[in-house]
Amino acid sequence: MRIAVVGLGYVGLVQAACLADAGHRVSGVESDEARLRLLLGGETPFYEPGLSELVRRALDRGGLRITSEIDVAVCQSEVVFLTVGTPPRADGSSNLDALFEAGEALAAGASSALLVAVKSTVPVGTCDDLESAMRRRADARVDVVANPEFLAQGRAIADFREPRRVVLGSTSEAALEPLLALYRPFVESGSGRLVVIDRRSAELAKYAANGALALRVSMINEYARLCDAVGADIEEVRQVLASDPRIGPHFLEAGLGFGGSCLPKDITSLLHQARAADCEMPLVEALYAVNQGQRTRLAELAVEAFGDELSGRRFAVWGLAFKPGSDDLRESPAILTIDELLRRGARLTLYDPAALDNARALYGGRVDYASTALSALEGAEALLLCTAWPELAQLSLSAIAERISTPERNTPPYLFDGRNLFDPVEAGRAGLVYRGVGRGRAFPSG
Ligand code: UDX
Repeated sequence: MRIAVVGLGYVGLVQAACLADAGHRVSGVESDEARLRLLLGGETPFYEPGLSELVRRALDRGGLRITSEIDVAVCQSEVVFLTVGTPPRADGSSNLDALFEAGEALAAGASSALLVAVKSTVPVGTCDDLESAMRRRADARVDVVANPEFLAQGRAIADFREPRRVVLGSTSEAALEPLLALYRPFVESGSGRLVVIDRRSAELAKYAANGALALRVSMINEYARLCDAVGADIEEVRQVLASDPRIGPHFLEAGLGFGGSCLPKDITSLLHQARAADCEMPLVEALYAVNQGQRTRLAELAVEAFGDELSGRRFAVWGLAFKPGSDDLRESPAILTIDELLRRGARLTLYDPAALDNARALYGGRVDYASTALSALEGAEALLLCTAWPELAQLSLSAIAERISTPERNTPPYLFDGRNLFDPVEAGRAGLVYRGVGRGRAFPSG
C-alpha cells in the first residue's frame, strides 16, 4: 500500500519504519529542518531500541522516503497518518495548531479522495472538527478516522508489530476498509484485536487508557507513603495485589511517579476537557495531585537526611530518563529531583546509560557528568537513583558503598533508591544506609 506519515516524531517514525519494513511504500513527511537533516542523513533523532537500524534499512531498500513536501507525498498515498505533536498549553489544553495546519495543507493539495488516520492524541471531537475543516477546503472527498496509538517507549517496535489492540474510530465502511486491511496482519501476528468504535469514543479511549495506567501508578505510590508511615513494605504488598488476577501485576511499581511525553500531558488535557464540558473528575484530579507530590519524593528524603541546606555536598544521580529504555527527559522525575537539589546548593554528578547528551543540553556546566555509573560516585556522599535501568541493578552494592563511604564526614553513605531497584537488606549489609519508596518495614526510616 502507498502510505504517507506526516510528522516524524516518536510515533510517526516508528509507524513509518515499521510499515516500510512490512513491505509498504511509505513517504515520511517532516517539517522541522534540523530533524529532517538528521533523518535524511540516516540518523534517528531520539533513542529507541532497534529503531535506527530499522529506519536505515527502510531507507536503503527504498521502502521509506523522507521529504518535507506534504503535497507530493500525499497525492500518491492511499492512507495518510497524522502523527504530529499535540503539546500541552500552559492551561493544560492541547495545542492542535500543527494538526490543523497539516490537515489544511493536505486538503489543499488533495486531487482525489483522501483518507486520513489521526494517530496524534487529540481531545474528543477533534477528528469531527478536522474532517469538517478539511472538507470545506478540499475539492475531493475527505474521511478522517481516529486511530490512537498505544506504543510505549522502549518497546515501541514490538508494540507496533504485535499490538494488543488497534483502535479505529469511524462509522464509514469505505474509510475503515483499507485501514483494516493494513493493520490485520500485525494484529493477527500478536494476540491482539481490531476494535472498531465511533470516532469520539476512540479519542476518549486513548485518554481513558493512559488515565487507567496513571491511576495504578498513583495508587501504588499512595500505598507506598502509607507503608513508610506505618512500617510496612510496598514490595510485599504489591506481590499480594499482583497475584489477584482481577488486579494483575502491571503498573504497580512504586517509585517517583509517572513522567514522559504522554501520561502527564494526557491527564492535564483530560482534566481540561472535563472542565470545558462541565463534568467533574475528582479521581483524575486526585491521581494527578498524588503524582505531583511523588515526583520530588527522593529530594525530600535527601533533605530529611542532610537538612535543608545542601551547599558543599556532592551527590551522584543515576538515571535521568523518565523510564528505562529511553533518552527522553520530558517530565522526568529525575529532572525535578535535580532542580530541587541544585536549588538547595548541592553539587551533582549525573549518569544515565542513554540520556547524558540530552542532560548536557539542559544543564550545560551547572552539573558534572560521568561516563560510567561507578565513576559518578567519586567524591559523592550519597547516591540518588531515579530511573530503573536494569543494568544499574547489576552493579555491586559493595562497590557502590566503597565509593561513597565518607568516614571523614558526619553522615553515613546513603543510597536513595527512587525505584526500589535494590534490596534494602543487602544494601544494609554492604554498609549503605538505604532509603527506598514505601520500604518502611524492610528498612525503618526512623
Ligand atoms: C505511555 C503508555 O503506556 C502508552 O500506551 C502510550 O501510547 C504513551 O504513554 P510511555 O510514556 O512510553 O507510554 O511510558 P509508560 O511505560 O506508560 O510509563 C509512564 C511512566 O510511568 C514512566 O515514568 C514510568 O516510570 C512510570 N511507571 C510505570 C511507574 O512509575 N510505575 C509503573 O509500575 C509503571
